[in-house]
Amino acid sequence: MATALFGGAFFLPLLLSSAAATTTRVSLYLGTGAGDSALQLLDILPSSLDEAFPNGDHNITTFLEDELSSDLLARTDLVIFPGGSGTGQANAIGEVGLALILSWVNAGGAYIGTCAGAFLGMSHIGFYGEPAGFPTQEPWDRGDGNVSVEVLDRGFEDLGLDRDAFAGNVTIMYEEGPVVKASDLPADVNLLALFRTEIASNHPEETEGEMLGTPAITSREVGGGRVVLNSPHPELQPIIPEIYAGEILWALNA
Ligand SMILES: *[C@@H]1O[C@H](CO)[C@@H](O)[C@H](O)[C@H]1NC(C)=O
Ligand SMILES: *[C@@H]1O[C@H](CO)[C@@H](O)[C@H](O)[C@H]1NC(C)=O
Ligand SMILES: *[C@@H]1O[C@H](CO)[C@@H](O)[C@H](O)[C@H]1NC(C)=O
Repeated sequence: MATALFGGAFFLPLLLSSAAATTTRVSLYLGTGAGDSALQLLDILPSSLDEAFPNGDHNITTFLEDELSSDLLARTDLVIFPGGSGTGQANAIGEVGLALILSWVNAGGAYIGTCAGAFLGMSHIGFYGEPAGFPTQEPWDRGDGNVSVEVLDRGFEDLGLDRDAFAGNVTIMYEEGPVVKASDLPADVNLLALFRTEIASNHPEETEGEMLGTPAITSREVGGGRVVLNSPHPELQPIIPEIYAGEILWALNA
């Protein structure tokens, strides 16, 4: 009898607090330097979040450069910078914005960057330090197209991707995201997937061969926070919401 009463009294508040804790608050940048693919990312985010947290709730907020603040970040679990122009995004949010995001991630925040958002993370915010070989290759405008990407063991483990569905090469759209040699990255950057084919159509003589075998998806623990950077675009045809679902779970350490 005493046990039953204790159990009943204890159970209800526990349920309420765990329900409240499952709202994932995502802030997606849509300001200057965000390209059209940002809207595709906004489109697929709900399905990726539903897959990541089948019993959870989410709140996706979009923000412009003048809305980036410590207040916004205090109400955010995961910040996402989309494709477009990395330099455009960096100039728009400015040194103060770059430093704000770095310190928020260091304090436990989660960051996902895709294409320009990956450039922003590597070359402007400095999530991967200042390794040799940065900034990335010149000329950077290789051209756009589908490429073959191979998910590595680390990618299967950290992103929880189905080993059968993602066996072999996965086709993902590439639109001039960062191309960096794995050997130029710090040793604690995780290699989750590699480019197995490349795009070099704009400057074939200068760029052919450079992209083969370089990291397509990487991640790193930065202070108390976590960062995932996509060079290609899993939100564009072919749309692969599972990749973002896995990245969201890893970035949030959930
Ligand atoms: C989502 O977050 C925004 C910004 O914090 C807040 O204003 C809004 O009320 C939230 N919406 C829901 C449905 O919780
Ligand atoms: C991935 O594609 C590359 C280039 O076409 C090919 O050499 C490689 O064998 C493929 N890997 C798998 C696992 O299918
Ligand atoms: C990329 O591949 C997808 C299907 O895998 C296709 O729908 C899309 O049109 C392709 N994009 C380009 C630019 O070839």
